[in-house]
Amino acid sequence: MLGPVILAASRSEQMRRLISAAPVTKQVVDRFIPGETVDEIVPIVQDLTAKGLELTMDVVGEDITTPEQAAAARDAYLLLVDRLKELELGTRAEMSIKLSMFGQALPSPTTTLLEEPSGPAPTPHGGHELALANVRPVVEAAAAIGTTVTLDAEDHTTLDSMFAIHEELRKDFPETGCVIQAYLFRTESDARRLAGAGSRVRLVKGAYKEPTEVAYQQKHEIDKAYVRILRILMEGSGYPMIGSHDPRLISIAQELARRAGRKLDEYEFQMLYGIRSDEHLRLAAEGHRMRVYTAYGTDWYGYFMRRLAEKPANLRFFARSMLTR
Ligand code: FDA
Repeated sequence: MLGPVILAASRSEQMRRLISAAPVTKQVVDRFIPGETVDEIVPIVQDLTAKGLELTMDVVGEDITTPEQAAAARDAYLLLVDRLKELELGTRAEMSIKLSMFGQALPSPTTTLLEEPSGPAPTPHGGHELALANVRPVVEAAAAIGTTVTLDAEDHTTLDSMFAIHEELRKDFPETGCVIQAYLFRTESDARRLAGAGSRVRLVKGAYKEPTEVAYQQKHEIDKAYVRILRILMEGSGYPMIGSHDPRLISIAQELARRAGRKLDEYEFQMLYGIRSDEHLRLAAEGHRMRVYTAYGTDWYGYFMRRLAEKPANLRFFARSMLTR
């Protein structure tokens, strides 16, 4: 029951101010977001890759409010690419991007210019072109150092725009990946469309608060949908990326991969930094490709709150750490 309440709080500006200013011990946030700057994250990248793990890097931030912030997000990723270039890791370190941080929800410059002050409100996703313009240089820079970008999936209202940007980027950079969410009714059909040759698709359960009209709400329904969609991806000819910490789904994924005749390098597992870290190492030691989603930066609120919502025990740990200060 706590999960939906925390997810609602994750979108509240008042709560953001309250929690961000609270005496949260750095230790609590650090468990999930192990650095604030690119200099702090580089040693983590080196440590994880030395252990045989691969990474997808996320500069935290979302729901920005100005084009300048969107440009700053793009520049933060370009700086990251520069540092990854020095490490020469190729696809062992790729990047994950939330398009809302690249301006997706802002009114586009064209929309704003065409509208009279008294005219209709800007379309909610008029920033589609702005997000595409900001993400393209990052995808280009990633390709130039031999790596790739995956577009994260945010709330359901943003997905048509995300998939359209994904399709556009794939014309020049076919290896660009995207995320699909098992809790959404639409996802089986998205998975069929995306399961073709050359595609890279990460399947996750879904981390946002979604209405009953568009998404399954019960864990067992979401898990069943996850398996149905995973089967579509495994039987397709793309590259499935299994984004889950759920031990049952990981075993099922291994079995589906075996039945589909996939070799170990024809799919991969992905988990979040700080969650089931022993399992990261166990799967890598078994010869699986294991990619750790590693987030860093200062705008950690939304990302941190979704991690709290996924496991109420995290909230107790968080609350205790505040009380014992
Ligand atoms: P489930 O929630 O059932 O957890 C299984 C077990 O894992 C739990 O019992 C617990 O042991 C452990 N666990 C899970 N979450 C934990 C937490 N926060 N703290 C401590 N333990 C935890 N979502 C989205 O909507 N869009 C996206 O783009 C992405 N991207 C993404 C990338 C990667 C690599 C991963 C792994 C996940 C995402 N997600 C995401 C988040 C995803 O939708 C989902 O919320 C979480 O992965 C939790 O679901 P599980 O599949 O792990 O199962």
